[in-house]
Amino acid sequence: MNIAIAIDGPAGAGKSTIAKLAAKSLGFIYVDTGALYRTIGLCAYRNNICSKDVDAIIKMLEDMKVELAFNENHEQIVLLNGEDVSSLIRTPEISMYASDVSAIPRVRAFLLDLQRNMAKTNNIIMDGRDIGTVVLPDAKIKIFLTASAKVRAKRRYDELIEKGMDVKFEDVLSDVETRDYNDSHREVAPLKPADDSIIVDTSDLDLEQSVEKLLSIMKERM
Ligand code: DC
Repeated sequence: MNIAIAIDGPAGAGKSTIAKLAAKSLGFIYVDTGALYRTIGLCAYRNNICSKDVDAIIKMLEDMKVELAFNENHEQIVLLNGEDVSSLIRTPEISMYASDVSAIPRVRAFLLDLQRNMAKTNNIIMDGRDIGTVVLPDAKIKIFLTASAKVRAKRRYDELIEKGMDVKFEDVLSDVETRDYNDSHREVAPLKPADDSIIVDTSDLDLEQSVEKLLSIMKERM
C-alpha cells in the first residue's frame, strides 16, 4: 500500500519548497496541485476568457488536456495539451486566474481523478488546499502549513524580485490577502484544516527548521 501525505495551507506558507525537500529526503514523489489550477487559469487567460465566466470556463474544459509528468530530476512538470507550461503558470496574473477558476466546482471535479491516480501508484507528498479534506481524505499524515499573511507576502515578494519581476510589496500583500479570502470563502472545498490535521505555523521558522519540523512529524507517524 502506498503512503500518502497531504500538505494543505494558504498561498505562500512555503508548502511547495518545504514539501519538495521533505519528499526528496523520504524518497517520495512530490505533487504540487496548485500547478493544475494554474494551468486551467493559463488556458483561460490565453483564450481571453474572463476567469469569472463560469460557463465559458466549463466549456473550455471540454477541449483541454492537463497532465502531470516528471523530468529527469524527478521534478513535476505540467502539460497543457501536451505543452510544458510549468514556468508560464508562475506569474501574479495567473495566480489570480487560478484562484478564480479553482472556485468552480466543475473545475475541481475535472482535476480530482488526476490527483487521486497519482496517489494510487506512488508514495506521495501532495500539496494543495483540499488534499486532506477532499482529494485524499484517507491520507496517512495530514499537515496544515501556515504563516502570517505578512510573512507569506514577504517570502513571495522576495521570490518574485529574485526572478527579476518588478513588483511592490503592498501589491503582493494585497494579492495574498485577496487569495486567502477567496480560497477560504468559496463554497466548494474551501481552504481549511482537516479535523485530523496537524497545524504547523512557520512564521518564526526558517526553511531548514520548517523542513526538520515536518520530517520529524512524518517520521514519527509513518
Ligand atoms: O498553491 P498555488 O498558489 O499554486 O495555487 C494556485 C491557486 O489554486 C490558489 O489560489 C488556490 C488554488 N488551489 C486549490 O483551490 N486547490 C488546490 N488543491 C491547490 C490550489
